[in-house]
Amino acid sequence: MNTKFRLGVLGSGKGSNFVAIADACAAGRVPAQVALVLSDVENAGILEQARARGIPARYIPPGPFRTKLDPDTERAYVQALKDAAVDLVVLAGFMRVLKSEFLNAFPGRIVNIHPSLLPAFPGLEAWKQALEHGVKVTGCTVHFVDAGVDTGPIIGQIAVPVLEDDTPETLHRRIQLAEHELYPKCIAAIARGELELRGRRVVWRSGGIAPELRYLVGSR
Ligand code: GAR
Repeated sequence: MNTKFRLGVLGSGKGSNFVAIADACAAGRVPAQVALVLSDVENAGILEQARARGIPARYIPPGPFRTKLDPDTERAYVQALKDAAVDLVVLAGFMRVLKSEFLNAFPGRIVNIHPSLLPAFPGLEAWKQALEHGVKVTGCTVHFVDAGVDTGPIIGQIAVPVLEDDTPETLHRRIQLAEHELYPKCIAAIARGELELRGRRVVWRSGGIAPELRYLVGSR
C-alpha cells in the first residue's frame, strides 16, 4: 500500500472543497492523497468529482435519521475508512453529526470546515445566519471535530467581509473561495505534523497562516 498520508473525505454536496483538496494533493501542495470519498447522498456532486479523478467513491445510505447516522451505518462508514487505511477523516460539507463510536474510531483525526468564524454561527447555513445577524465580517473555520456541533479546537480561519449588497448566495460564494484556500493549508500542516494541541489551542509550529488580504477586498 502507498505510504503517503491518506485522507478519507466525507461530503453531502457539490464537492468544491474536495476538489480544492484533491487538486492541492495532485499538485504536491498537500503531502497526502485522497484514498476514499464517502457520501450520504447518492447523487452528490462530490462522488462524481471523485470518480472523475479516479478516486474510489462510495454512497453509503445514511439510515433513518435526518441529522445523524444510526449506529450500524456509523460502523459501515468507519469500516470503509479503516479498510482504506485513512490517516485523517476530512469532513467537507458532510451534513450529519458524528457520534461517539465514529469519533472514538479516529481520535484527534477528524477535521471539519465550517462557513463562519466559529464560535459564531454554528449549525446550518452559517452564511445566512451571519447576513441576518448583520455582522460586517464573517469567514470560514477549519477545526478538529469533537462531540459538539462545530465546537472542536480551531486549526485555522480566514475572514471574509460582508458587503452592503451581499445576498446569501454571493456571500457564500466568497466564503467558499476562502475555504478552498484554507482547507488544503490546514490539511498540509496536519500531514506534515506541524500542529500541536495545547488544551483547546492548536499551535502551528510553522508559525500559523498569514491572513489573506484579498478576501478583505472581496471578489464577486
Ligand atoms: C461548505 O461551504 C462547507 O463549509 C459547508 O458546506 C459547504 C460544502 O460545499 N459545511 C457546513 O455548512 C457544515 N456545517 P462543497 O460541497 O462545495 O465543498
